[in-house]
Amino acid sequence: MTKNHLLEMVGISKYFPGVQALDEVKLTVKAGTIHALMGENGAGKSTLMKCLFGTYKKDSGEIFIEGESVDFGNAKEALENGVAMVQQELNQALTRTVKDNLWLGRYPLKGPFVDERKMAKETDEIFNNLNISIDANAIMSTLPVSQRQMVEIAKAVSYNSKIIVLDEPTSSLSENEVEHLFRILRDLRERGVGIIYISHKMDEIREISDEITIMRDGQWIATEATQDISIDEIIRLMVGRELTHRFPDKTNVVKDDVMMSVKNISGRYTNLHDASFDLHAGEILGVAGLDGAGRTELLENIFGEMTRKGGQIFLEGQEVQNKNPKDSIKNGFALLTEERRATGILGIRDILDNTVISSLKRYLNFNLFLDDKKMLEATEWAIDSLDVRTPSHKTQIRALSGGNQQKVIIGRWLLTQPKVLLLDEPTRGIDVGAKYQIYELIIELASEGKGVVVVSSEMPELLGICDRILVMSNGRVAGELDPKTTNQEEILKLAEKYL
Ligand SMILES: Nc1ncnc2c1ncn2[C@@H]1O[C@H](COP(=O)(O)OP(=O)(O)OP(=O)(O)O)[C@@H](O)[C@H]1O
Ligand SMILES: [Mg+2]
Repeated sequence: MTKNHLLEMVGISKYFPGVQALDEVKLTVKAGTIHALMGENGAGKSTLMKCLFGTYKKDSGEIFIEGESVDFGNAKEALENGVAMVQQELNQALTRTVKDNLWLGRYPLKGPFVDERKMAKETDEIFNNLNISIDANAIMSTLPVSQRQMVEIAKAVSYNSKIIVLDEPTSSLSENEVEHLFRILRDLRERGVGIIYISHKMDEIREISDEITIMRDGQWIATEATQDISIDEIIRLMVGRELTHRFPDKTNVVKDDVMMSVKNISGRYTNLHDASFDLHAGEILGVAGLDGAGRTELLENIFGEMTRKGGQIFLEGQEVQNKNPKDSIKNGFALLTEERRATGILGIRDILDNTVISSLKRYLNFNLFLDDKKMLEATEWAIDSLDVRTPSHKTQIRALSGGNQQKVIIGRWLLTQPKVLLLDEPTRGIDVGAKYQIYELIIELASEGKGVVVVSSEMPELLGICDRILVMSNGRVAGELDPKTTNQEEILKLAEKYL
């Protein structure tokens, strides 16, 4: 093996019941580089990294670090040998403090006791060094997901590892936080660390990576220098075919009838202030804005997940209270939350359970018994229309790739047959090909006469599928734009209106 290669993985295979997750995959990472690992949902990216990290035992293949053959039996061994990983699924002790999470498994000791002072001091050092301002004594569960993600990143960095794996680290980070993370990564690269970076965000990959390895269906497809490969080429290699259109044709017709009317809604505990707008039947309404503009709060207030200070909601002319999510579902609303991986998944249940859980009433026979056949049909519809890559509906949801877990949750909400669908970042963590399917589905739902509200940070997406775009700024509705005639600059300008 070549000595100057920091990491070399060759012929790595891994089989799970029903799937050959990895089939003789190779990966070479040089010291002092950022190496992007790309591929569709379920391509095997996380599995490959878990084989490196010792979370999974590979069936065959070899791993070399600086020319030495290694085979870690568990995460602890990997960490002790210079490999750290930020997992796609945050796996934190939520009832413990930030500090505890950082030091779990390696508490500094003073005799038989934990050296609290040393721990506090070193925690400060780690956070200062990375310019992170998070209260080390806060209980993990009280932090927003983005900060929890930052803690995980700080933890990985604090091991002084030679190799750091980041599996979709920016899924919950705001733009500023992403920039912050990138500064940290560049600094680590400067110091000779090899970084493996997994993301579905093309512009991030172009900005931060030196080399790209592309996987498809558990196989290695290509490795290229980032500057030598175009986005179109990356997409083509990822999906294995030409993707000529990024957005499907719009076939929905916006009706004159108002489906939902929101009047002067303000949030009790948020900066959401006096929001009013109409949503028509058959309409896809986009909501744009910078982080903290109140987009998620708007949806959560409508859905009764947060307390409103004032305002009214009308569905087809009738006022509805939407006091809490249960009430809202009954009224014909559905909300796909932004943090679905952290909040929406019943990990140890199978796909069928996870799919039908919010629409159980539909499968009752004589109002008494759940009809297995109906539930199976519904689940198969969801698997099929969202292209969930799974061996069967009996597979436990946690055995699916991250993106495929998300598709199951989207299916769950569609099955409640809502009149108004509130979608918060519906394509986050989802690969390019599957995004297209989700767009098609959104358009199809609008074509059936439903009203759809889509919150998204990806402006091309809003411009590509929406009939109208509402722009929020600092908790207020700043204006409304026509996707056919507007552009990203105009959206941004409105987004800054009340800053
Ligand atoms: N613990 C497991 N048990 C069974 N199958 C698994 C397990 N982990 C992963 N798989 C399967 O292995 C394949 C690869 O999954 P993996 O999580 O590596 O994909 P990924 O490339 O990381 O996708 P994503 O972009 O969605 O995160 C998938 O078919 C997945 O269902
Ligand atoms: Mg993954």
